[in-house]
Amino acid sequence: MELSRLLIWGTCILSSAAFATSDWDTNPTFNYTDALGKAVLFFEGQRSGKLPVAQRVKWRGDSALSDGSYENISNIKINNRGYYDAGDNVKFGWPMAFTVTLLSWAAIEYEKEIASVMQLEHLRSSVRWGADFILRAHVSPTTLYTQVGDGNGDHQCWERLEDMDTPRTLYKITPNSPGTEAAAEAADALAAASIVFHHVDANYSRSLLQHSKSRFQFADQFSLEDLTLLLVHSTVLFLVTRIVHLYGDPGGSSSKIPITRGELLFLRDNSNLQYASSSSMVLYMYSRLLNQAHVNGVHCGSKYFSSSQIKTFAKSQVDYILGKNPMKMSYMIGFGNKYPLQLHHRASTIPSIKVHSTKVGCNAGYSHYFYSNNPNPNIHIGAIVGPNSNDQFSDLRSDHSHSEPTTYTNAAFVGSVAALVT
Ligand SMILES: *[C@@H]1O[C@H](CO)[C@@H](O)[C@H](O)[C@H]1NC(C)=O
Ligand SMILES: *[C@@H]1O[C@H](CO)[C@@H](O)[C@H](O)[C@H]1NC(C)=O
Ligand SMILES: *[C@@H]1O[C@H](CO)[C@@H](O)[C@H](O)[C@H]1NC(C)=O
Repeated sequence: MELSRLLIWGTCILSSAAFATSDWDTNPTFNYTDALGKAVLFFEGQRSGKLPVAQRVKWRGDSALSDGSYENISNIKINNRGYYDAGDNVKFGWPMAFTVTLLSWAAIEYEKEIASVMQLEHLRSSVRWGADFILRAHVSPTTLYTQVGDGNGDHQCWERLEDMDTPRTLYKITPNSPGTEAAAEAADALAAASIVFHHVDANYSRSLLQHSKSRFQFADQFSLEDLTLLLVHSTVLFLVTRIVHLYGDPGGSSSKIPITRGELLFLRDNSNLQYASSSSMVLYMYSRLLNQAHVNGVHCGSKYFSSSQIKTFAKSQVDYILGKNPMKMSYMIGFGNKYPLQLHHRASTIPSIKVHSTKVGCNAGYSHYFYSNNPNPNIHIGAIVGPNSNDQFSDLRSDHSHSEPTTYTNAAFVGSVAALVT
């Protein structure tokens, strides 16, 4: 499918979305600068490896410093950097690459806006922390490490990142055990990050580009324009194919994207806000593209959407997350007066190693902290979680479908809220 068709279909999801206002719909105003800063700060709490002096999330310590040692190969330097993708302690390469791609896209598209509120350096650091891992995981032209940590072993324990003693099994793709999606997304991420650092750190940018090219096994004529296009393509394609996969053929008359009564895009009852925030990000970008091309709007079947209607819908998703919703609460931790207190997140749940230095073991973490009714001791500022399909939220740590934050939700939220800072 062509990019333009994908985007037009993207707006067609709006035809099932109401533009009406509801009875709970008062008109709060939000501090989008604050929300952007917090969404970016979240990534510091997800960091793996040796933390830098400039680390602002102080309840976290160094972790996973011997990652890579499982294969006894000294040149596997993946013990440093990269992100834990959610509330567990595994480094998953594919979602990490997607996260870096989204963050980079936001940094490129809204460079001026983000710089104007002093968040560009922080955002670039968040891109670099993920891109560095992908660079180091690409140990030879045909070998890419795609995961560190055994998911099942990890999930059996409720441990702080700094105490981790679960198997740090390594997974890699090679010519004998290929993985196209993981390889392509890693290449996308490196290409996108290379654009972010093009004028900032030319050497680093070049290195990112070389590794990206090597992953794609592309020829030398690979230009920056090609890269931008590729990036847009792959990200939009990823989002749209996910949606198509869930809801059938967009050409089919039966396709219908559910919207909750509170007007939240609701694609799946498991970390749903990743879809709401990524749709918002793509729709904002699309309305900008329309404006830049001096096109007022698009037809979707018999319906017409103006560029400003598209923007209004994209904004409604951000506002819902920040507090304009039936629960009248913010779904971003640390934003506003009322927000979730029982994040499903190991590091946030157990007292910081800085205040409780004794090791908390695999089972002790469950019995003392996971099953506790108390709020999490470490407030993971900027983390985003969300409600169920009835716009309700129970704020229970055990409810991982609704209470576990992810890096890709936050990355897409950064790309949405950045459109709102001025
Ligand atoms: C919005 O948030 C930013 C960052 O926290 C802060 O500096 C600014 O003063 C806030 N603006 C208002 C109007 O409260
Ligand atoms: C790595 O070395 C340790 C200690 O020498 C050994 O027990 C382990 O089996 C080795 N692992 C691999 C994958 O060779
Ligand atoms: C250039 O970047 C590479 C990869 O990040 C690094 O290893 C190297 O030291 C850098 N060289 C300079 C001159 O900064």
